[in-house]
Amino acid sequence: MHDIYISGTGVWTPPHKISNQELVESFNEYVRLYNIENEALILDGSVKALEPSSEEFIAKASGIFNRYVIDKESLLDPTIMKPMIPARADDTLSVSAEISVKAAQEALANAGLEASEIDAVIVSTANLQRAYPAIAIEVQNELGIEGYAYDMMVGCSSTTFGISNAYSDIAAGKASKILVINPEITSAHNNYKNRDSHFIFGDVCTATVVEKNSTAPNKFKILSTKLKTQFSNNIRNNFGFMNAIESKNYTEAELLFIQNGRSVFKEVMPMVASLITDHLSENSLIPEDIEQYWLHQANINMNTYVIKKLLGDDFPPERAPNVLEEYANTGSAGSLIAFHKYNHLEPGQKGIICSFGAGYSICSILVERA
Ligand SMILES: CC(C)(COP(=O)(O)OP(=O)(O)OC[C@H]1O[C@@H](n2cnc3c(N)ncnc32)[C@H](O)[C@@H]1OP(=O)(O)O)[C@@H](O)C(=O)NCCC(=O)NCCS
Repeated sequence: MHDIYISGTGVWTPPHKISNQELVESFNEYVRLYNIENEALILDGSVKALEPSSEEFIAKASGIFNRYVIDKESLLDPTIMKPMIPARADDTLSVSAEISVKAAQEALANAGLEASEIDAVIVSTANLQRAYPAIAIEVQNELGIEGYAYDMMVGCSSTTFGISNAYSDIAAGKASKILVINPEITSAHNNYKNRDSHFIFGDVCTATVVEKNSTAPNKFKILSTKLKTQFSNNIRNNFGFMNAIESKNYTEAELLFIQNGRSVFKEVMPMVASLITDHLSENSLIPEDIEQYWLHQANINMNTYVIKKLLGDDFPPERAPNVLEEYANTGSAGSLIAFHKYNHLEPGQKGIICSFGAGYSICSILVERA
């Protein structure tokens, strides 16, 4: 068995940043216009008046203060309330492939590799831009990579499941250097007219080089991965290619992200804490042996819950880095942004990269700084 490493990571951050203040101002203007337009129906009780959002609620309930998006202007326009981008011709690089290439180039540079040395590409994301041809094959073509490429989707755990797949492919001898890329354009699946979730998401693209016998100066040996899934409708997106043939006229809102956030919180948290504990004990480790936990970034209260279960009440914040304040929930990419930006492991120290969310899906990756 060869040693398999994460030898480089990259993060592409969109150019447009939106603060809670800007988002709430736009949402509340949308609410004001909606309530005026529907005044008569609201008065006769057939339509419910919408309620305003608040910066205080968002900060306290989620720990989110900002997010980056691919388009800000239309998203904040109270008469549009969604990002809008120009359509691209089939012979032009897709948006997902374009941002994938940018994140991949940083990951390759950090691994000290040329694209031509890579022999497989996995694009793994909560939302794929199209069914086929695979975005991964488009990226493979753009970067001039031989070998194979495929897309995969595991909701909020797509990034970690993708890294786990790369690890397995390398262990099985199918490839020796794999790029795992996670274009998360979450602003296209979020409902900016929904007060309960309009603040949750942000866009990003992350990339990871996974390789055997790496010579990169700064690398992390993957010691083991542990995966778990359990079906739940509490985080759901009904958008799909069958929509057009179903005997139902979907509203726009019905084809966007829907969640029962309270239930997610209650059901997923105990699963995450016990999966990490089990993963560690299978490797003869206890939570204190882990120097850093790069957890999924959906909600600061969730992460505090998990880390207190593992390390007790007085854990130093740098042991569980938080990127929610700046990036919000970036689908599956959050734990990797945290790993990329806030990593202080010394050689021999261990860390856990852990995602959790839609599916439900959880993946824990145990790494050691080489
Ligand atoms: C979504 C989430 C942030 C909501 O936080 P919460 O504390 O559960 O809040 P609730 O939805 O119970 O709402 C509490 C109150 O605030 C109100 N509220 C909701 N959104 C609001 C907003 N934007 N502004 C002001 N008030 C708001 C609610 O109406 C509710 O009022 P009520 O008590 O009078 O009924 C939280 O449940 C969460 O993050 N869950 C996990 C989600 C997750 O990880 N999903 C994975 C996605 S990939």
